[in-house]
This record gives sequence, structure tokens and C-alpha cells, in this order.
Amino acid sequence: MSEIKNDYLWWQTGVVYQIYPRSFQDSNGDGIGDLQGILKRLDYLQWMGVDAVWISPIYPSPMADFGYDISDYTGIHPLFGSLDDFDRLIQEVHARKMKLILDLVPNHTSDQHPWFLESRSSRDNPKRDWYIWKNPRPDGGLPNNWLSVFGGSGWEWDEKTEQYYYHAFLKEQPDLNWRHPEVQQAMLNVMRFWLDRGVDGFRIDVMWHMIKDLQLRDNPVNPDYQNHMATYEQLLPVYSTDQPEVHEIVQKMRKLLDSYTDRMMIGEIYLPIHKLVTYYGIDGKGAHLPFNFQLISLPWEAKVIAAAIDQYEGALPANGWPNWVLGNHDQPRITSRVGIQQARVAAMLLLTLRGTPTIYYGDEIGMRDVPIPFQEVQDPQGLNMPDKNLSRDPARTPMQWDASLQAGFTEGKPWLRLDRAFQRTNVQLQKEDPYSMLLLYKRLIDLRHNEPSLTVGDYTPVCSDNQMLAFTRQAEGHPKFLIILNLSHRPCYFKPSTLTFTGTVVLATSPELEGSVVDESISLSGDEGVIIRITDTRL
Ligand code: GLC
Repeated sequence: MSEIKNDYLWWQTGVVYQIYPRSFQDSNGDGIGDLQGILKRLDYLQWMGVDAVWISPIYPSPMADFGYDISDYTGIHPLFGSLDDFDRLIQEVHARKMKLILDLVPNHTSDQHPWFLESRSSRDNPKRDWYIWKNPRPDGGLPNNWLSVFGGSGWEWDEKTEQYYYHAFLKEQPDLNWRHPEVQQAMLNVMRFWLDRGVDGFRIDVMWHMIKDLQLRDNPVNPDYQNHMATYEQLLPVYSTDQPEVHEIVQKMRKLLDSYTDRMMIGEIYLPIHKLVTYYGIDGKGAHLPFNFQLISLPWEAKVIAAAIDQYEGALPANGWPNWVLGNHDQPRITSRVGIQQARVAAMLLLTLRGTPTIYYGDEIGMRDVPIPFQEVQDPQGLNMPDKNLSRDPARTPMQWDASLQAGFTEGKPWLRLDRAFQRTNVQLQKEDPYSMLLLYKRLIDLRHNEPSLTVGDYTPVCSDNQMLAFTRQAEGHPKFLIILNLSHRPCYFKPSTLTFTGTVVLATSPELEGSVVDESISLSGDEGVIIRITDTRL
């Protein structure tokens, strides 16, 4: 690899892979994935070309929200293993030249966290103001109209101390009061604990929620609300999220990270682009990567996606490094959103765009959302709004490793049912099949790693229409690549008036196209994408 890559940091040139630990690999037969299981699969991740692993929360937790309700920030839940296992994991990840990113949930704790137990014990407890406590309105009503993301009011009445506390998510997840200096210090200490242990970065949960309006004003009504939407969307969270003061907090976290070598943070932020980019911070002293969820949130239409890429590229601050995400544990899987054939095109898009790609476990073998019968639903979001089909369980099912009993995930009974098609869709089979999704992912990653133009090169849009989008990537002094993606199921024809070129197809979603020479134009089948190395550009 040429020197040009040396000018960039690992989180800029690398590929991130998200593991949902409950569902990745069980090692002790209890049906729930664990750290030993992850250890066992590190070679697989290395083989695939993954550079950094982000693991969803593994801390002690009553599991009301499957680990996003933390009762001890500096421990490991026995379900997942021990601190010793964790130290081994870091060691083994680093031995493979990979990085480890921890999920940090600073917005709220579990209601079983000792901080909250103290806070709720009496009104004059020193930790009372570590959380957001409020009296009822004079008429006895709720302090304001804020709603919980998981349904119902955001306020919960505490009988004993006769006040409400605020929870943006479950009532078992009380929000911390980030305006309190001691809360800030306590959480920065948590970060220090893990940084000292060697973690390379954090994915900060719901970063845009961390500070609320000082006056706790009512949120306005959402005029575009429709019945199929989550009840939370009845209001626009104008005063409960994305407050200007959040940036001071992010800056403090950044400052701490910068006092260590080569550490980073990703911010989980669901906001429109113009607001999202403010999380890079003034002078780039905010989040390294505010997660860009456009490929998850937007309709899968070539023109829409092409415009969104350009808008995002245009909105990035100087030195702001882009990133792209196709799926995570909160969203339907890409295969279920666009179909298995189109998911190949999506993979090519993710891994050829400029910016750090994040792959959600299982997407690399085309895992799909698994229908979970009503009586088996576990996700609180699904349970609380049963008529809206909002359960996140379908995208959290066990990883499909092989065709053996329980897909090689566990020797016991998996905590969530497996896709019944696992005997046809699994890692072992796909490793041997040159046409598989897995090998497509692996080859895309390899190409990305080997070609500076794809790792760090400029992005230039070429054209888009109702079916396809095309762009080029080039790093100075390196070959230029033209990427053409057919986002529709019908054939499409690429003959741009703006670009005259000759090139060779180096990678295609249909490998039959590889090696063919392209001169000026190319026709693609439905659901097809190609990466062309340009050999001659006229004009
Ligand atoms: C984030 C997590 C999600 C969790 C929520 C509350 O959005 O990704 O899984 O339920 O925060 O912590």
C-alpha cells in the first residue's frame, strides 16, 4: 500500500464491524453470545478484512433494553464473561492489528444503577440532581409533554419522594442530568477506565439526547405524524434533544480522548445532515465520526441516494471525515429493505463511498429480518407498541455460521430464534462459493484496502437517473475508479455525455463481468453494480 494511506488514521482507512454480542457466538451453551464466543470468531473477522470491531454493551445490566440499561459502567455482565475475558479480547484484537470500540451509554443508566438508587432514595440525597427530577405541574399534571421513544410519557412518578423523573427510553432507563458537573466527571472517569484498559474508541449511544432544554419546555406537535409511526413521533423533540450545550459535553469527551494516543469516538445521532455535521464540533474538536444514517433512513432510489451523497459531501466541515452505515441493531436489515439481489449493490455502494463504512454483523452473508412470533417478542420497543411492527428482534437473530444444529451459534437454545433458512445461508457455505454475498464483501474490502483511490481518494459524482448512480474515486497519483450502480431491478444503460473513458471492470456484483473492457458505455442487468478501473480518460 502506498504512503498516502499513512497520512490517515486507522478509523479513516478502516472498516468497522458491529457485533451484537448476544447474537454473535455463544461459547457456554446458555443460548446467549459471549466474549469467549467473539474471541473464537476473531480469525473470521480478520479473514474478512475488518479493521475495527464495535461491540454493543456488555456491562452488568438488568437487560430491560438488552444492555442499554447499564447498572455498572466498569464491569462485565456475567452472561458475557469477566473482565479477564475482556482483557484477553483486547489483547487478541490488537494481536490481529484490529481495534476495539466499546459502546458507551452516557445519556441514561439503569434504574438499578447505584447512582439512581441513591438519587431516588430521598429528595436531599447528594445524588438527587444527578437525574432529572421535577414536580408535577400546579394542576397536578405531568411536568411537560415529552414522550418516551419506547412509547408513553417520558415521565415516571416516584411514590416515595413524590416527584417525576425523566426517561427518554424505558422507565428503567432514567436520564442522567448532564448539566451536573459531578455527572460529567463520573462519566469521564468511566471513559478513562476503559481507555486505560486499552480500548481504541467509543460509540456514544444517543449522543444528541444528552442535554435537555434548561426550562424543559413542551415539545411542539409534529404536523406530519401518521398512525403507523411510533407514538414518540407525535411530537418534534425540539426541546428534549439536540440542545446547543451538548457540544460542550462532546468537546470534553474529545479532549479526554485526545489525551491518549490514537483513540476515537463515534456518535449515534439521528438528525438531518445540516444538524448532524455540527457534531464534528468547532475546529473538528467534537465526534470523530457522527454516524451518518442516510443509507438507512432514505428510500432506496438512485436519485434520492445520489443527491444525499452530494449533500453530505458538501455539508462536511473542513477535515470532517465521512462515514456510512447500512444497518444496525435498531433497524431492519438491508436485505429485508431492498431485497437480497439489491443488497449486493448496497454492499458495493457502502464499500466504495468516501468515508468509513460500518457493517452490521450478518449483513455480509445477507441475513434477513426473521419473523418473531408474538409470544416470542423480546424487544421492549416491540412489546410496548405491539400493533406497529416496531420490534427490533428480527434484525438481532443469531449469526448463521454453518448448517449444524443452531447454525453453530450455540449448543443450547438460542435466546432468539434463528432464521429457518440458515442451512442455506451461512458463513461456512458462503466461504466456498465465489458468487456468495460473503465473498463479495470480502473482495470489496480487499479492493478498498489495496487501492488508495478507494480508501482515501476524492469522490466525484458523474451522473444519476431514476435507476442508477455513478461516481468516481481517485487519490492523487493513483488509478481512477468509476463505480456504476443499478439501484433498480431492470436493466439500465450508462452512457454519460460528461465522461469519455476506457476501463476494465475489476469487481462486479455479477463476477461474469469482471475483466471486461468498457469503452464509453456499459449496460447493466437489474441489481447490478460494477467497479471500473479507468485506463484512459479523454476530455
Ligand atoms: C440507542 C441504541 C438502542 C437503545 C437506545 C437506548 O438508540 O442503539 O438499541 O435502545 O439507544 O439506549
